[in-house]
Amino acid sequence: MSPATAAVASSAPVARPAILGGTPAVTLDQTEANRWPLITAEDEQAVLNVLRSGAISIHPEVELLEADYRKWLGMPYCIAHNNGTGAIHGAMHAFDIGPGDEVIVPSATWWASVMPVLHAGAIPVFAETENQCIGLDPVDVEKKITPRTKAIIVVHLFGMPTKMNETMALAKARGIKVLEDASHSHGATYDGKLTGTLADAAVFSMQANKLVPSAEGGVFLTRDAAMYEKAMRYGHYERLLGLNSPNKRYAATGFGHKFRMSPLSAAVARVQLKHLNERNQRRNDNCIYLSEKLEKASGGAIFTFLAPPNVQRVYFEFLVRVDESRIGVGLKDFAKALQAEGAQVGAPRYPLLHQQPMFTDPDKPWAKIARLTPEILGRPLPAYDPMALPATAKGNASLLKLPSFPRAERRLLDQYGMAFEKVLAHAAQLPRGSA
Ligand SMILES: Cc1ncc(COP(=O)(O)O)c(C=O)c1O
Repeated sequence: MSPATAAVASSAPVARPAILGGTPAVTLDQTEANRWPLITAEDEQAVLNVLRSGAISIHPEVELLEADYRKWLGMPYCIAHNNGTGAIHGAMHAFDIGPGDEVIVPSATWWASVMPVLHAGAIPVFAETENQCIGLDPVDVEKKITPRTKAIIVVHLFGMPTKMNETMALAKARGIKVLEDASHSHGATYDGKLTGTLADAAVFSMQANKLVPSAEGGVFLTRDAAMYEKAMRYGHYERLLGLNSPNKRYAATGFGHKFRMSPLSAAVARVQLKHLNERNQRRNDNCIYLSEKLEKASGGAIFTFLAPPNVQRVYFEFLVRVDESRIGVGLKDFAKALQAEGAQVGAPRYPLLHQQPMFTDPDKPWAKIARLTPEILGRPLPAYDPMALPATAKGNASLLKLPSFPRAERRLLDQYGMAFEKVLAHAAQLPRGSA
């Protein structure tokens, strides 16, 4: 008997799963429980105020949002962007990333953490993701560092801070810059410090699913005045006139990009930021409550990414890792049985980037974006191997995504707990072969 089955079998008899003819465990409404973003009259009023001012392109609301972020994070410089992707493009310019530089990145992330590296003419070097915090593995990062490594981009994936102490130590010793992509981790802390304050610079996305949602938006933050001005000159020509530095002379042209945030979005973001802590708390309470149930019910065969002691994570998304060999059924069949219970579970959204055609097609589309040739690079173009990063691939294939329950009541979480218990207890009898 597997440990998971043993854990469940030792308690009271468990009802038959729905997929085997039993009654579904999850019957409560899930629409309100999982509604996000939460838009109230306060957001509506804030948008109306901007709209009625008529200044719907350039309005003080954007700089007020920047001030809110500065105050919240205690960071001296912040510039708002049209989205998180634009903020990362700006960060590459702020970091002076240029042709042939190497930037170490995770493969297990959303594409926006990586693709701006190419637009800077640089080469993304993928490193493994470790299992505990689901961020870059510092051991593999160290192996991937070369004399050409200019930066590391860490992602606090799904709201779990990555191993920053180890990564920063590696980077600092070699003069390598680190960018935190904190798009998923508004409000998470590491060693008591908020994510977004832990490296040379940080970006946050405020796309509508994020923990600080807006219509679209992003911010770049740093303690370095020169980086701030570079991020500004890259995408914010209209702000340059306000500078008292040589960058002012570029105001008439900017650097060819326009990345400013809409004040209508900024109005929403300011209201949402105000409510971040209380709304994070609700998600955390719910996800941690269910995590503890799932770890217990599975005898540890389901790992729920509860935060290590020096970390307070948040739940942009709630993913768990399922050890198929211990629960005694494949992940897809397990998920299908949970879905039959009414549980809204599924595969994670992010395919691994190093396996995508952008990197694996023989004509190397990535190199075209980076405008790199062997002649420019002075050596052959690197090849991306889809079979590389075996630990990341194995880890990614074992993930199951649950709702993050922003407004759920305990009764719904108990129903999810029961769905897992039923399915785990009957793992041996579940239908096999789900696609
Ligand atoms: C990890 C990560 N980085 C960056 C971004 C880009 O943000 P945006 O969608 O605001 O451009 C996203 C968006 O989902 C993301 O998930």
